[in-house]
Amino acid sequence: MNNKPNAYPRYFLGIESSCDDTGVAILLNGKDVVANELLSQTPYHEIFNGVVPEIASRKHFECLHLLLDVALRKAGCSFSDLCGIAATIGPGLIGSLLVGVATAKAIALSQGIPFFPVNHLLGHVFANFLSEPLLLPPFVILLVSGGHTEIYYMASFEKIERMGGTLDDAAGEAFDKGARILRLSYPGGPAISKISLEGNPTAIRFPKAFQNDLSFDFSFSGVKTALLYFMKRNPEFLVADAAASYQEAIVDILLQKIFLAARKKNTQKIVFAGGVSANHRLREKAKEKSIKWGYDIIFPSLETCTDNAAMIAKAGWFYYDRGINIQPDARVNASLSIEETMRVLFEQSTPEEASEEQNCAPK
Ligand code: KG4
Ligand code: ZN
Repeated sequence: MNNKPNAYPRYFLGIESSCDDTGVAILLNGKDVVANELLSQTPYHEIFNGVVPEIASRKHFECLHLLLDVALRKAGCSFSDLCGIAATIGPGLIGSLLVGVATAKAIALSQGIPFFPVNHLLGHVFANFLSEPLLLPPFVILLVSGGHTEIYYMASFEKIERMGGTLDDAAGEAFDKGARILRLSYPGGPAISKISLEGNPTAIRFPKAFQNDLSFDFSFSGVKTALLYFMKRNPEFLVADAAASYQEAIVDILLQKIFLAARKKNTQKIVFAGGVSANHRLREKAKEKSIKWGYDIIFPSLETCTDNAAMIAKAGWFYYDRGINIQPDARVNASLSIEETMRVLFEQSTPEEASEEQNCAPK
Protein backbone atom coordinates (compact mmCIF):
# COMPACT_ATOMS: atom_id res chain seq x y z
CA MET A 1 0.00 0.00 0.00
CA ASN A 2 1.17 3.44 -0.96
CA ASN A 3 1.73 5.44 2.22
CA LYS A 4 1.06 8.98 1.09
CA PRO A 5 2.40 11.63 3.48
CA ASN A 6 -0.19 13.44 5.54
CA ALA A 7 0.94 16.73 4.05
CA TYR A 8 -1.68 18.85 2.29
CA PRO A 9 -3.43 18.67 -0.14
CA ARG A 10 -5.22 15.36 0.36
CA TYR A 11 -7.84 14.49 -2.23
CA PHE A 12 -10.43 11.88 -1.30
CA LEU A 13 -12.83 10.39 -3.87
CA GLY A 14 -16.41 9.21 -3.29
CA ILE A 15 -18.66 7.21 -5.62
CA GLU A 16 -22.43 6.78 -5.25
CA SER A 17 -24.35 4.34 -7.44
CA SER A 18 -26.88 2.65 -5.16
CA CYS A 19 -30.01 3.47 -7.16
CA ASP A 20 -30.64 5.70 -10.19
CA ASP A 21 -28.21 8.55 -9.57
CA THR A 22 -24.57 8.25 -10.57
CA GLY A 23 -22.42 10.43 -8.34
CA VAL A 24 -18.72 11.23 -8.08
CA ALA A 25 -17.31 13.72 -5.57
CA ILE A 26 -13.89 14.83 -4.43
CA LEU A 27 -13.14 16.19 -0.97
CA LEU A 28 -10.06 18.26 -0.30
CA ASN A 29 -8.53 17.69 3.14
CA GLY A 30 -11.79 16.18 4.34
CA LYS A 31 -13.62 19.51 4.36
CA ASP A 32 -13.99 21.19 1.00
CA VAL A 33 -16.15 19.61 -1.69
CA VAL A 34 -14.08 20.50 -4.76
CA ALA A 35 -16.21 18.40 -7.12
CA ASN A 36 -19.68 16.93 -6.71
CA GLU A 37 -20.96 15.53 -10.00
CA LEU A 38 -24.35 13.89 -10.31
CA LEU A 39 -26.09 12.38 -13.27
CA SER A 40 -29.74 11.61 -12.70
CA GLN A 41 -31.30 8.76 -14.67
CA THR A 42 -34.84 10.02 -14.04
CA PRO A 43 -35.63 10.50 -17.76
CA TYR A 44 -34.92 6.79 -18.40
CA HIS A 45 -37.12 5.57 -15.54
CA GLU A 46 -40.01 8.02 -15.36
CA ILE A 47 -41.95 6.37 -18.18
CA PHE A 48 -42.01 3.22 -16.00
CA ASN A 49 -43.08 5.23 -12.90
CA GLY A 50 -40.21 3.76 -10.93
CA VAL A 51 -36.60 2.62 -11.16
CA VAL A 52 -35.86 -0.31 -13.49
CA PRO A 53 -32.80 -2.08 -11.98
CA GLU A 54 -31.37 -3.37 -15.26
CA ILE A 55 -31.51 0.06 -16.89
CA ALA A 56 -30.00 1.65 -13.77
CA SER A 57 -26.90 -0.55 -13.69
CA ARG A 58 -26.29 -0.15 -17.42
CA LYS A 59 -26.53 3.64 -17.18
CA HIS A 60 -24.09 3.70 -14.23
CA PHE A 61 -21.68 1.62 -16.29
CA GLU A 62 -22.02 3.96 -19.29
CA CYS A 63 -21.45 7.21 -17.47
CA LEU A 64 -19.35 6.58 -14.34
CA HIS A 65 -15.98 6.93 -16.12
CA LEU A 66 -17.14 10.17 -17.76
CA LEU A 67 -18.19 11.62 -14.40
CA LEU A 68 -14.84 10.58 -12.90
CA ASP A 69 -13.11 12.52 -15.66
CA VAL A 70 -15.21 15.63 -15.08
CA ALA A 71 -14.75 15.47 -11.29
CA LEU A 72 -10.96 15.10 -11.50
CA ARG A 73 -10.75 17.98 -13.94
CA LYS A 74 -12.90 20.20 -11.72
CA ALA A 75 -10.83 19.34 -8.66
CA GLY A 76 -7.60 19.90 -10.59
CA CYS A 77 -6.10 16.57 -9.60
CA SER A 78 -5.52 13.10 -11.02
CA PHE A 79 -5.94 9.54 -9.74
CA SER A 80 -2.35 9.58 -8.49
CA ASP A 81 -3.15 12.52 -6.16
CA LEU A 82 -5.87 10.59 -4.30
CA CYS A 83 -5.21 9.43 -0.73
CA GLY A 84 -8.31 7.22 -0.49
CA ILE A 85 -11.57 6.25 -2.14
CA ALA A 86 -15.03 5.39 -0.83
CA ALA A 87 -18.06 3.88 -2.55
CA THR A 88 -21.56 2.90 -1.48
CA ILE A 89 -21.59 -0.81 -0.64
CA GLY A 90 -25.31 -1.06 0.24
CA PRO A 91 -28.22 -0.96 0.69
CA GLY A 92 -29.40 -0.51 -2.88
CA LEU A 93 -29.81 -2.26 -6.20
CA ILE A 94 -27.23 -5.01 -6.46
CA GLY A 95 -26.21 -4.37 -10.09
CA SER A 96 -25.95 -0.63 -9.52
CA LEU A 97 -23.87 -1.07 -6.37
CA LEU A 98 -21.54 -3.47 -8.17
CA VAL A 99 -20.66 -0.90 -10.83
CA GLY A 100 -19.58 1.71 -8.26
CA VAL A 101 -17.77 -0.69 -5.94
CA ALA A 102 -15.90 -2.53 -8.71
CA THR A 103 -14.76 0.81 -10.15
CA ALA A 104 -13.67 2.11 -6.74
CA LYS A 105 -11.77 -1.08 -5.93
CA ALA A 106 -10.02 -1.01 -9.31
CA ILE A 107 -8.88 2.61 -8.79
CA ALA A 108 -7.75 1.83 -5.23
CA LEU A 109 -5.77 -1.19 -6.39
CA SER A 110 -4.14 0.61 -9.29
CA GLN A 111 -3.13 3.59 -7.14
CA GLY A 112 -2.18 1.66 -4.01
CA ILE A 113 -4.64 3.63 -1.88
CA PRO A 114 -7.22 2.35 0.63
CA PHE A 115 -10.81 1.62 -0.35
CA PHE A 116 -13.58 2.38 2.17
CA PRO A 117 -17.01 0.77 1.79
CA VAL A 118 -19.78 3.12 2.94
CA ASN A 119 -23.29 2.29 4.08
CA HIS A 120 -25.60 4.50 2.00
CA LEU A 121 -27.85 5.26 4.98
CA LEU A 122 -24.91 6.40 7.10
CA GLY A 123 -23.84 8.42 4.06
CA HIS A 124 -27.12 10.34 4.32
CA VAL A 125 -26.38 11.03 8.00
CA PHE A 126 -22.85 12.20 7.11
CA ALA A 127 -24.31 14.73 4.64
CA ASN A 128 -24.98 16.81 7.76
CA PHE A 129 -21.27 16.95 8.59
CA LEU A 130 -20.56 18.62 5.25
CA SER A 131 -22.51 21.70 6.29
CA GLU A 132 -22.04 21.31 10.07
CA PRO A 133 -18.46 20.08 10.54
CA LEU A 134 -18.62 20.69 14.31
CA LEU A 135 -21.73 18.56 14.81
CA LEU A 136 -21.18 15.92 17.50
CA PRO A 137 -23.32 13.10 18.91
CA PRO A 138 -25.39 12.43 20.94
CA PHE A 139 -28.42 13.15 18.78
CA VAL A 140 -31.50 11.45 17.39
CA ILE A 141 -31.79 10.93 13.64
CA LEU A 142 -34.86 10.90 11.42
CA LEU A 143 -33.75 9.04 8.32
CA VAL A 144 -36.35 9.52 5.61
CA SER A 145 -35.64 8.39 2.06
CA GLY A 146 -37.29 6.52 -0.78
CA GLY A 147 -36.68 3.14 0.82
CA HIS A 148 -36.26 3.92 4.53
CA THR A 149 -38.02 5.68 7.36
CA GLU A 150 -36.23 5.03 10.63
CA ILE A 151 -35.40 6.71 13.90
CA TYR A 152 -31.94 6.20 15.36
CA TYR A 153 -30.16 7.42 18.43
CA MET A 154 -26.49 8.10 17.83
CA ALA A 155 -24.95 8.02 21.30
CA SER A 156 -21.42 8.36 19.95
CA PHE A 157 -19.74 7.85 16.58
CA GLU A 158 -19.27 4.21 17.53
CA LYS A 159 -22.75 3.53 18.86
CA ILE A 160 -26.08 3.78 17.08
CA GLU A 161 -29.36 2.38 18.35
CA ARG A 162 -32.40 1.87 16.13
CA MET A 163 -35.45 3.15 17.99
CA GLY A 164 -38.11 2.31 15.40
CA GLY A 165 -39.10 2.51 11.78
CA THR A 166 -41.81 1.98 9.23
CA LEU A 167 -43.82 -1.21 9.22
CA ASP A 168 -44.81 -0.79 5.57
CA ASP A 169 -44.03 2.03 3.12
CA ALA A 170 -41.20 4.51 3.58
CA ALA A 171 -42.08 8.22 3.71
CA GLY A 172 -40.48 8.85 0.30
CA GLU A 173 -42.43 5.93 -1.11
CA ALA A 174 -45.64 7.42 0.35
CA PHE A 175 -44.85 10.68 -1.45
CA ASP A 176 -44.09 8.83 -4.70
CA LYS A 177 -47.25 6.69 -4.54
CA GLY A 178 -49.37 9.67 -3.49
CA ALA A 179 -48.08 11.63 -6.49
CA ARG A 180 -49.05 8.74 -8.77
CA ILE A 181 -52.60 8.81 -7.35
CA LEU A 182 -52.72 12.57 -7.95
CA ARG A 183 -51.24 12.11 -11.45
CA LEU A 184 -48.22 14.26 -10.65
CA SER A 185 -44.75 13.77 -12.11
CA TYR A 186 -42.10 11.28 -10.96
CA PRO A 187 -40.35 11.38 -8.50
CA GLY A 188 -43.36 12.31 -6.43
CA GLY A 189 -41.79 14.02 -3.40
CA PRO A 190 -40.62 17.17 -5.16
CA ALA A 191 -43.86 17.27 -7.22
CA ILE A 192 -46.12 17.12 -4.14
CA SER A 193 -43.89 19.58 -2.31
CA LYS A 194 -44.16 22.06 -5.19
CA ILE A 195 -47.90 21.92 -5.83
CA SER A 196 -48.61 21.98 -2.07
CA LEU A 197 -47.32 25.55 -1.94
CA GLU A 198 -50.60 26.55 -3.63
CA GLY A 199 -52.83 24.22 -1.61
CA ASN A 200 -54.69 24.22 1.70
CA PRO A 201 -53.10 21.74 4.15
CA THR A 202 -56.29 21.53 6.22
CA ALA A 203 -58.62 20.74 3.29
CA ILE A 204 -58.73 16.99 4.12
CA ARG A 205 -58.08 15.27 7.45
CA PHE A 206 -56.05 12.15 6.74
CA PRO A 207 -55.45 9.34 9.25
CA LYS A 208 -52.15 9.45 11.13
CA ALA A 209 -51.07 6.02 12.28
CA PHE A 210 -49.49 5.46 15.71
CA GLN A 211 -49.87 9.12 16.69
CA ASN A 212 -51.25 8.38 20.12
CA ASP A 213 -48.79 5.76 21.25
CA LEU A 214 -45.26 5.91 22.57
CA SER A 215 -43.70 3.63 19.95
CA PHE A 216 -41.32 4.87 17.28
CA ASP A 217 -43.01 2.94 14.51
CA PHE A 218 -44.58 4.37 11.40
CA SER A 219 -47.17 3.20 8.91
CA PHE A 220 -47.95 5.07 5.72
CA SER A 221 -50.14 2.56 3.92
CA GLY A 222 -53.31 3.88 5.63
CA VAL A 223 -52.82 7.50 4.61
CA LYS A 224 -51.96 6.43 1.06
CA THR A 225 -55.12 4.28 0.78
CA ALA A 226 -57.19 7.11 2.28
CA LEU A 227 -55.90 9.44 -0.47
CA LEU A 228 -56.69 6.85 -3.13
CA TYR A 229 -60.30 6.41 -2.00
CA PHE A 230 -60.80 10.12 -1.41
CA MET A 231 -59.73 10.92 -4.99
CA LYS A 232 -61.93 8.10 -6.35
CA ARG A 233 -64.92 9.56 -4.53
CA ASN A 234 -64.03 13.18 -5.38
CA PRO A 235 -62.36 13.14 -8.81
CA GLU A 236 -62.88 16.89 -9.26
CA PHE A 237 -61.18 17.81 -5.98
CA LEU A 238 -58.43 20.42 -6.24
CA VAL A 239 -55.15 18.51 -6.58
CA ALA A 240 -53.16 21.24 -4.78
CA ASP A 241 -55.44 20.94 -1.72
CA ALA A 242 -55.29 17.13 -1.74
CA ALA A 243 -51.49 17.21 -2.10
CA ALA A 244 -51.04 19.81 0.65
CA SER A 245 -53.27 17.85 3.07
CA TYR A 246 -51.53 14.58 2.25
CA GLN A 247 -48.10 16.15 2.76
CA GLU A 248 -49.28 17.70 6.03
CA ALA A 249 -50.31 14.27 7.37
CA ILE A 250 -46.95 12.69 6.45
CA VAL A 251 -45.00 15.59 7.94
CA ASP A 252 -47.03 15.53 11.18
CA ILE A 253 -46.53 11.78 11.53
CA LEU A 254 -42.75 12.14 11.10
CA LEU A 255 -42.33 15.12 13.41
CA GLN A 256 -44.47 13.77 16.22
CA LYS A 257 -42.24 10.69 16.45
CA ILE A 258 -38.84 12.35 16.11
CA PHE A 259 -39.57 14.97 18.78
CA LEU A 260 -40.87 12.19 21.02
CA ALA A 261 -37.60 10.29 20.41
CA ALA A 262 -35.52 13.34 21.33
CA ARG A 263 -37.50 13.72 24.53
CA LYS A 264 -37.11 10.07 25.39
CA LYS A 265 -33.33 10.20 24.87
CA ASN A 266 -33.06 13.49 26.67
CA THR A 267 -31.14 15.10 23.83
CA GLN A 268 -31.62 18.59 22.42
CA LYS A 269 -30.26 17.69 18.99
CA ILE A 270 -32.35 16.32 16.11
CA VAL A 271 -30.64 15.42 12.85
CA PHE A 272 -32.55 14.88 9.60
CA ALA A 273 -31.27 12.78 6.70
CA GLY A 274 -32.39 11.41 3.33
CA GLY A 275 -34.32 12.69 0.32
CA VAL A 276 -37.53 13.58 2.20
CA SER A 277 -35.56 15.97 4.42
CA ALA A 278 -35.55 18.29 1.39
CA ASN A 279 -39.30 18.77 1.93
CA HIS A 280 -40.04 22.43 2.61
CA ARG A 281 -43.04 21.76 4.88
CA LEU A 282 -41.06 19.29 7.00
CA ARG A 283 -38.33 21.91 7.42
CA GLU A 284 -40.81 24.67 8.19
CA LYS A 285 -42.79 22.73 10.80
CA ALA A 286 -39.63 21.22 12.37
CA LYS A 287 -38.30 24.75 12.80
CA GLU A 288 -41.54 25.97 14.41
CA LYS A 289 -41.55 23.08 16.88
CA SER A 290 -37.85 23.35 17.66
CA ILE A 291 -38.26 27.02 18.58
CA LYS A 292 -41.36 26.32 20.62
CA TRP A 293 -39.86 23.38 22.53
CA GLY A 294 -36.19 24.37 22.61
CA TYR A 295 -34.47 21.86 20.32
CA ASP A 296 -31.62 22.23 17.83
CA ILE A 297 -32.53 20.87 14.41
CA ILE A 298 -29.93 20.03 11.80
CA PHE A 299 -30.81 19.48 8.15
CA PRO A 300 -28.39 18.66 5.32
CA SER A 301 -28.04 21.31 2.61
CA LEU A 302 -30.75 20.92 -0.05
CA GLU A 303 -28.23 19.57 -2.61
CA THR A 304 -27.07 16.83 -0.25
CA CYS A 305 -30.49 15.62 0.99
CA THR A 306 -31.05 13.37 -2.01
CA ASP A 307 -28.49 10.85 -3.25
CA ASN A 308 -25.04 12.32 -3.94
CA ALA A 309 -21.40 11.27 -3.72
CA ALA A 310 -20.19 14.10 -1.45
CA MET A 311 -21.89 12.44 1.53
CA ILE A 312 -20.23 9.12 0.65
CA ALA A 313 -16.83 10.81 0.41
CA LYS A 314 -17.44 12.52 3.77
CA ALA A 315 -18.27 9.21 5.49
CA GLY A 316 -15.28 7.51 3.83
CA TRP A 317 -13.01 10.34 4.92
CA PHE A 318 -14.21 9.92 8.49
CA TYR A 319 -13.04 6.27 8.45
CA TYR A 320 -9.79 7.19 6.67
CA ASP A 321 -9.02 10.02 9.10
CA ARG A 322 -9.64 7.88 12.17
CA GLY A 323 -7.92 4.80 10.75
CA ILE A 324 -11.08 2.72 11.13
CA ASN A 325 -11.26 -0.87 9.96
CA ILE A 326 -10.40 -0.82 6.26
CA GLN A 327 -12.18 -3.66 4.47
CA PRO A 328 -10.66 -3.90 0.99
CA ASP A 329 -12.52 -7.16 0.32
CA ALA A 330 -16.00 -5.92 1.41
CA ARG A 331 -18.82 -7.05 -0.86
CA VAL A 332 -21.93 -5.24 -1.97
CA ASN A 333 -25.02 -5.97 0.11
CA ALA A 334 -28.45 -4.98 -1.24
CA SER A 335 -30.09 -5.03 2.19
CA LEU A 336 -27.25 -3.77 4.37
CA SER A 337 -28.47 -2.24 7.64
CA ILE A 338 -26.85 0.43 9.77
CA GLU A 339 -26.60 -2.01 12.67
CA GLU A 340 -24.69 -4.50 10.55
CA THR A 341 -22.23 -1.85 9.38
CA MET A 342 -21.65 -0.59 12.91
CA ARG A 343 -21.05 -4.16 14.08
CA VAL A 344 -18.43 -4.70 11.40
CA LEU A 345 -16.78 -1.33 11.95
CA PHE A 346 -16.80 -1.23 15.71
CA GLU A 347 -17.46 -4.88 16.56
CA GLN A 348 -20.65 -4.19 18.49
CA SER A 349 -22.52 -7.34 19.36
CA THR A 350 -26.22 -7.71 18.52
CA PRO A 351 -28.72 -7.39 21.41
CA GLU A 352 -29.26 -11.19 21.15
CA GLU A 353 -25.52 -11.86 21.22
CA ALA A 354 -25.09 -9.44 24.11
CA SER A 355 -27.77 -11.16 26.19
CA GLU A 356 -26.30 -14.55 25.25
CA GLU A 357 -22.86 -13.35 26.33
CA GLN A 358 -24.33 -12.09 29.58
CA ASN A 359 -26.10 -15.41 30.20
CA CYS A 360 -22.92 -17.35 29.51
CA ALA A 361 -20.64 -15.09 31.54
CA PRO A 362 -19.41 -16.62 34.85
CA LYS A 363 -21.54 -15.26 37.70
O1 KG4 B 1 -32.47 9.67 -0.27
P1 KG4 B 1 -33.05 9.57 -1.63
O2 KG4 B 1 -32.52 10.49 -2.69
O3 KG4 B 1 -32.90 8.12 -2.20
C1 KG4 B 1 -32.99 6.98 -1.41
O4 KG4 B 1 -31.98 6.63 -0.80
O5 KG4 B 1 -34.11 6.44 -1.38
O6 KG4 B 1 -34.61 9.77 -1.46
C2 KG4 B 1 -35.47 9.75 -2.54
C3 KG4 B 1 -36.87 9.99 -2.03
C4 KG4 B 1 -37.92 9.86 -3.10
O7 KG4 B 1 -38.96 9.04 -2.61
C5 KG4 B 1 -38.39 11.28 -3.31
O8 KG4 B 1 -39.75 11.37 -3.71
C6 KG4 B 1 -38.18 11.88 -1.95
O9 KG4 B 1 -36.98 11.32 -1.48
N1 KG4 B 1 -38.05 13.34 -2.00
C7 KG4 B 1 -38.91 14.18 -1.41
C8 KG4 B 1 -38.48 15.48 -1.75
N2 KG4 B 1 -37.37 15.38 -2.52
C9 KG4 B 1 -37.12 14.05 -2.66
N3 KG4 B 1 -40.00 13.95 -0.66
C10 KG4 B 1 -40.69 15.02 -0.21
N4 KG4 B 1 -40.35 16.30 -0.50
C11 KG4 B 1 -39.27 16.57 -1.26
N5 KG4 B 1 -38.96 17.83 -1.53
ZN1 ZN C 1 -30.47 7.67 -0.59
